[in-house]
Amino acid sequence: MTVPDLATTQRAFLFADPAAHSLSPRMHGAAFTHAGLPGTYEARRVPTGALASAVAGLRAPGVLGANLSLPHKEAVVPLLDSLSDAARAVGAVNTVIHRDGQLHGENTDAPGLLAALRDAGLPDLGPGEPVVILGAGGAARAAAFVALRDMRARAWIVNRTLDRARALAAEFRPHGEVQAAAPDDVPWADTPLVINASSAGLNDPEQAPLDASFLARLPAGALVYDMVYKPAETRLMREARALGLNAENGLGMLAHQARLAFTAWTGADVPVRVFLDALGEEAGSGSVAGRTP
Ligand code: ATR
Repeated sequence: MTVPDLATTQRAFLFADPAAHSLSPRMHGAAFTHAGLPGTYEARRVPTGALASAVAGLRAPGVLGANLSLPHKEAVVPLLDSLSDAARAVGAVNTVIHRDGQLHGENTDAPGLLAALRDAGLPDLGPGEPVVILGAGGAARAAAFVALRDMRARAWIVNRTLDRARALAAEFRPHGEVQAAAPDDVPWADTPLVINASSAGLNDPEQAPLDASFLARLPAGALVYDMVYKPAETRLMREARALGLNAENGLGMLAHQARLAFTAWTGADVPVRVFLDALGEEAGSGSVAGRTP
């Protein structure tokens, strides 16, 4: 595998639908500048029917790869030549890396989440310590991968629709200890980490994924990590902070997934601060809701 010729302009893309409100061009633009590389990053609106031809275009010389966002993260999988372990387990690719006409699928949402949790001060967990995941959709799959494969935690999946949580738990059981649970059955008092991977709070800031009474049962110092980053403080975060708990939004995950994609494309290790600064004020405010992955 040859290293891309970074002396000439190299191109990276986002394929999504919609794509106009993406914050990724800002982050990657800042990263190319910081690294002193003549690269470009362009967000393209790619409808579902155009995905295969857009992905085929990534095999051209001078293309580093692409990010995939809604609705393409799963659909892109059969169009690629190889997949990372995380992409295969999560069942979703957010980063395609092009080398010599070959396309490799990576998932940087999962390691991006792990890095953001570390930045938020999460200490190393003991094996089998509980981690609660709220939600059972695509975002919850990345959280389950991190909880089981990276943290060796015991994952409790709590979802409005319990059957969906059960299906996710069954699928991830080969990766570790995981079970679906109703809120009353979770060992909250022993839980150092709750990840909101549901879309509650995304379009209505006053909406929380479940009744907030569980927050009072968490131990002191527990971290409530919300993958929503717009609004910058969700109701869940506000209520957690009011109880003295540690709460963070999804901006860190957004920045880290971009940083990891940039390194995979270019080999350049740009500090996460560059990506966070590029997100700036715009990220947490404004009218368009946002959530990672
Ligand atoms: P994604 O793939 O982006 O995670 P998704 O598959 O639509 O999106 O999943 C959204 C998740 O948020 C689901 O777990 C959903 O719960 P259901 O399975 O019961 O639909 C959860 N969710 C969305 N709105 C919610 C709300 N108001 N309260 C609680 N959970 C909510």
